[in-house]
Amino acid sequence: MKAVVYTEYGPPEVLRFTDVDQPTPGDNEVLVKVRAVSLNASDWEVLRGKPLYSRIGGPFRPRHHILGSDIAGQVEAVGSAVSLFQPGDDVFADILDSMGGFAEYVCVPEGALVRIPAGMAYDEAASVPQAGAIALQGIREKGQVRPGQQVLINGAGGGSGMYAIQLAKLDGAEVTGVDNAEKLEFMRTLGADHVIDHRRQDYTRNGRAYDLILDVAAYRSAFAYKRALAPGGRFLYVGGSVRMLLQVLVVGPLIGRAEGRKLRLLAVRLGARHVAPLVELCRAGTVTTVVDRRFALSEVPEALRYLGEGHAKGKVVVIVE
Ligand SMILES: NC(=O)c1ccc[n+]([C@@H]2O[C@H](COP(=O)([O-])OP(=O)(O)OC[C@H]3O[C@@H](n4cnc5c(N)ncnc54)[C@H](OP(=O)(O)O)[C@@H]3O)[C@@H](O)[C@H]2O)c1
Repeated sequence: MKAVVYTEYGPPEVLRFTDVDQPTPGDNEVLVKVRAVSLNASDWEVLRGKPLYSRIGGPFRPRHHILGSDIAGQVEAVGSAVSLFQPGDDVFADILDSMGGFAEYVCVPEGALVRIPAGMAYDEAASVPQAGAIALQGIREKGQVRPGQQVLINGAGGGSGMYAIQLAKLDGAEVTGVDNAEKLEFMRTLGADHVIDHRRQDYTRNGRAYDLILDVAAYRSAFAYKRALAPGGRFLYVGGSVRMLLQVLVVGPLIGRAEGRKLRLLAVRLGARHVAPLVELCRAGTVTTVVDRRFALSEVPEALRYLGEGHAKGKVVVIVE
């Protein structure tokens, strides 16, 4: 089968579009014919081995040689112990643990797969898992957004931000989206009430206080984030620098405690099963998935560069013919 392979960390040029053996499903696995794979910031990070946490399990060389984790496709074959799926079923999954989506076929544990609801296209189903889990857990489960609250989403023009803006608006919040200048209009179209270009304005110094800050690109200090929180407010670190992650883990539980402010890591429970409420909202047309650009499997390097250089508004999807 065709796949996009790499064996060393580096820029998109280290990727090769080549022939590899088609995998065979184990007893509890399903062989999926991949139709669409959406890109996540995690693909870009694990390609380059930056930040350092992306090298977990492979400090010097990548642990997995085929990237791509949010897949949608059709069941091709099932292992002997698989009971829930059969050939022809349309399914999607987040396979961040094992990766392998940038290929014509991939083996997925039965428990990781979810059926695509009728009427949902492969590219939309592939868009939801990781970005949707971050948004759902950040805004609803951990963020617990209530009507009238001030919510700021940093990195709101990307995949998870796209869903997070819409969920926060549905829950009645006043939403501020922060991203680069190219994405300001896009964030408005998703419903953001206020938008900030992060290269021109530091949202921790604009004199406003937020009840929830969901940050997928956190690079400032924990004290700056504390300053931007209203009493009782919470800051959730999703992604960003390792320095900031360590600060959140070490000083997060201490600073701001007196005023009830909280700085925490959002440890996202990944998996297609966890995004069922969002899938339902997408299916009903209440939440929109914006696929900015589609690329062919052979164009994965260009697709990753497009995402990594910060041009993508919403999701970027690789369509596997
Ligand atoms: N905590 C967990 O359990 C967990 C689980 C899975 C994934 N993650 C992390 O979650 C993040 C997922 O983000 P995503 O999929 O939404 O990524 P994405 O689609 O690439 O979106 C990230 C957005 O942030 C913007 N951005 C970058 N630097 C910024 C800055 N300094 N200020 C404001 N915006 C900035 C990017 O645009 P520009 O680059 O153009 O600025 C982009 O629009 C990744 O870092 C991933 O590692 C965390």
